[in-house]
Amino acid sequence: MKNHRKKIAVGEAGYLNWNCWLVKNLNYSPYKRCQFCKFRFRNCLFLHYQVISLILIFFFLGLFLLIEGTVSSLIIITIFTLVIVYGYFFNQSTGRIIEANFAQTKAKEALEELTENLEEKVDEQTKDIVEKNTRLERLLKVKSEFLDIASHQLRTPVSVICGILDMFKSGAMDSLPKDKQMKFIENAFLKGRKLNAVIDDILDASDLDEKELDLKNSLKDLDFSSLVKNIVNYSKMEAEGKRIIINTDISDNIIVKGDKKYLEQAISNIIDNAIKYTPGGKNIEIKLEKVGNKAILAVKDEGIGIPKKEQASLFKKFSRATNAKEMHTDGSGLGLFIVKNIIGAHPEGKIWFESEESKGTTFYIQLLIV
Ligand SMILES: Nc1ncnc2c1ncn2[C@@H]1O[C@H](COP(=O)(O)OP(=O)(O)OP(=O)(O)O)[C@@H](O)[C@H]1O
Ligand SMILES: [Mg+2]
Repeated sequence: MKNHRKKIAVGEAGYLNWNCWLVKNLNYSPYKRCQFCKFRFRNCLFLHYQVISLILIFFFLGLFLLIEGTVSSLIIITIFTLVIVYGYFFNQSTGRIIEANFAQTKAKEALEELTENLEEKVDEQTKDIVEKNTRLERLLKVKSEFLDIASHQLRTPVSVICGILDMFKSGAMDSLPKDKQMKFIENAFLKGRKLNAVIDDILDASDLDEKELDLKNSLKDLDFSSLVKNIVNYSKMEAEGKRIIINTDISDNIIVKGDKKYLEQAISNIIDNAIKYTPGGKNIEIKLEKVGNKAILAVKDEGIGIPKKEQASLFKKFSRATNAKEMHTDGSGLGLFIVKNIIGAHPEGKIWFESEESKGTTFYIQLLIV
């Protein structure tokens, strides 16, 4: 019964008003009026009419009986005929009123439904617009950051390369001795490589913006001790060029769960930064040790350090401390952002640092030992 009540809405064929007194109490399908009206017994016009009619019939019959002493059958027939004829028209008119009322109710319900839907739609569209706006704002920010980087980081090496090529083209190079020419060519080559590295960083960072780095399928048991030693050997040349001494204390056979390519990229980045932000004549210490089931790599320098107020945002994209900008105008500020993502994609991977301005910085990397 309940299901039936739910399925058939007001106005649909077969709809019953279960609040109708007739339906409830007599338990039979009501006739037309009750199918539409939403009234309870005290409001049911037809029942009012029937009750009042009965009272009046008995009242008049009683009155006749009192006055005349008898009730003729003609009077009874007349009264009943009047009641039936009047009842028919009453029925018709109240039926129309109820139908009109029903039509109004239906229209009201439809309007309510429409308003509800409209509110829902407006809500949905507002949410959509807000989301699109946020995305657009993010894209605009990325675009302006990119333009900033592009203008500094990409333009400089391109200008140098173009300048050198122009010297060749105009014949200005011909008057220079061979070794000088070689120096220019080497410089152009270095700038080309720098350009490549910046483009790689921008692409890596934009990939990381889209989705998190997932290394689950590429993690292997990796000899972390050898990996660090190789990078240190490779970096020593650059450090020596700046008269920086790299001291190492690297425990052997530390095997971690890691991705070789990405870990090489991350560790070289940290060591490069240590060399880049340390003035000549100072030292860098690189230590790798086992602590419980973790490998801890510490890269300690005696460089410019990082000002306290700029430390919190250092792992964010394009973030560069003011003292670093003064020391080296070039630098995209993407390196640490990429490193953090790489280390974070390793099991139990963590990166953090301690630093004091003008004294030095130590970067720590933690990885899980197999
Ligand atoms: N060893 C360090 N000593 C002092 N400051 C550092 C050190 N390492 C990182 N920083 C600070 O962190 C900032 C971000 O480093 P990150 O490697 O991301 O960018 P970058 O070195 O400026 O440029 P690039 O993307 O070309 O490496 C640096 O600009 C510098 O302010
Ligand atoms: Mg860097």
